[in-house]
Amino acid sequence: MTDSQHIGKGRESADIVILGAGPAGLVLGNLLLRSGIDCVVLERTGRDHVLNRARAGFLAAHTVRVLRRHGLDEGLRRSGREHGVCEFRTEDGRFRLDYQRLGNGEPHTVYPQHELVADLLAAYVGAGGRIHFDTEAVEVGGADGDRPWVAAREPDGRTVRWDARYVAACDGRHGAGRGSLPEGAVRHHRDHGVSWLGLLAEAPPSLDAVGYATHPRGFAGHMARTADITRYYLQCDRGTAAGDWSEERIWDELDLRMRSADYGPLRRGRILQRTVVDLESDVLASLRYGSLFLAGDAGGLISPAAAKGANLAVLEAELLAEAFADDLHRGDPEPLARYSDRCLTHIWRAQEFSHWMIRLLHGAPPFQEGMRRSRMESLRTSRTHQDWFAEQYVGI
Ligand code: APR
Repeated sequence: MTDSQHIGKGRESADIVILGAGPAGLVLGNLLLRSGIDCVVLERTGRDHVLNRARAGFLAAHTVRVLRRHGLDEGLRRSGREHGVCEFRTEDGRFRLDYQRLGNGEPHTVYPQHELVADLLAAYVGAGGRIHFDTEAVEVGGADGDRPWVAAREPDGRTVRWDARYVAACDGRHGAGRGSLPEGAVRHHRDHGVSWLGLLAEAPPSLDAVGYATHPRGFAGHMARTADITRYYLQCDRGTAAGDWSEERIWDELDLRMRSADYGPLRRGRILQRTVVDLESDVLASLRYGSLFLAGDAGGLISPAAAKGANLAVLEAELLAEAFADDLHRGDPEPLARYSDRCLTHIWRAQEFSHWMIRLLHGAPPFQEGMRRSRMESLRTSRTHQDWFAEQYVGI
């Protein structure tokens, strides 16, 4: 969209225009408001969709510290539960790692992401934050200069131009931020060649631990969400559609792979949601393009194998909020200049661990499978290895 195309159309402005109301966009919005910086959030979907989208639920210790530091942890304190044990079930038996007592001695906090998003939204709106739902950013322009703009389609179909000092794209992998990168922007992508059927079951957790099962038929995972809801994963063939498996087949397969015959049956329930996830990683070489900054999934996509996505999003949002404040309040552009490198250090570390987890949990015979079993055995027997695992697993 060029300047002339805007004539006659709505025009608005904010110092920072934030695209997307996920964890990245809403943490950023809250922190900017607290610094007295004018901002607006543009969100493609509706309020209900944002509030009800079930996603991840394991918060790293660093994420909890960020939320506490900024007074955004009320719900978390009320109903988040500390969690610090995982259980591996393999062809060689089972073992548990009390990871909150290993490594840096930190637990996860289990708190469903949609509840966190609801808290962040309530805090943002309560503090007078501006948010436009059902408003899709279609293009970011002018980012190579110091007057960037966002063209956004409002619910009534009008296109409004938002003028900004900076644009923060927190609108995920398929958002307008990524779609507006300059030609030649470098993206590092890896397809791990593995797919998971992700399930949300209306069933109490069956283990008092995160469960990871390796089985000749493929990986299965168990993660508590709440007292009544459990997340399960089943490795499936690439190309599987979410509806391909009947509920009975899902539970039978979970029981088989989790070795319920040896360790006790799973508590079954209705499958509330199901999605197929192809495990992929994708990192932009830079999270800054002039006046356009990317955070969360918009900047890098990480496979769910180590539950790092939301935690990285919060870390990046805090760094970006501080850097905007330094620039706008103190005239110091240095933190903004360092933002991308600082984030990428964390992103690549998380990617490396996530990749390690994928190789721990999936193997193709014979060589990969031999390596996988050896890696698992090392984790079972080596205290040094266990400490490293715990540090990476909870750390960010
Ligand atoms: N315009 C405006 N909003 C958009 C657009 C657009 N063009 N495209 C997408 N969005 C919105 C989505 O509707 C969504 O609400 O951006 C938001 C992005 O939110 P998330 O997908 O939650 O991404 P992020 O905030 O980066 O959170 C990171 O949490 O659970 C994890 O896997 C998840 O790793 C991800 C993480």
